[in-house]
Amino acid sequence: MNDFWGGKTMKIHHIGYMVKRIEEAIEVFQGLGYEIVKETYKDQDRRTDICFMEQNGYQIELISPWKDSALYPMMKKYKNVAYHVCYAVSDIEESIQQLEKVGFVLFKSVAPAGAIGENAKVAFLMNAHIGMVELVEE
Ligand code: NI
Repeated sequence: MNDFWGGKTMKIHHIGYMVKRIEEAIEVFQGLGYEIVKETYKDQDRRTDICFMEQNGYQIELISPWKDSALYPMMKKYKNVAYHVCYAVSDIEESIQQLEKVGFVLFKSVAPAGAIGENAKVAFLMNAHIGMVELVEE
């Protein structure tokens, strides 16, 4: 592994899936062996239902936008799609700066993430060649 993250551990926290119908999606992932980590969380700020599931140490996040969510047009366009990878970092501000140095642009600045935990905060960055990356500090 190269030293991009300054010798600190860098771990994939989850893969984010956009889904149209979260209950049906949960059932399908249960069929693949995933278990619900926490009951579906209603994220009032992001206007989405969020459910974390886990299988064999791999975590996925199902995101189902409400009609008034900023993510709703994206769901209409792409339907059901895995659209972001989230990395767990120990210092979110420092990691944002590091990603900006290699061509990422911050587009959702640091904000609380109630679906993950009381003290969790996340940020989203975009890159023209690989799309969206999320960072989480817990
Ligand atoms: Ni996520």
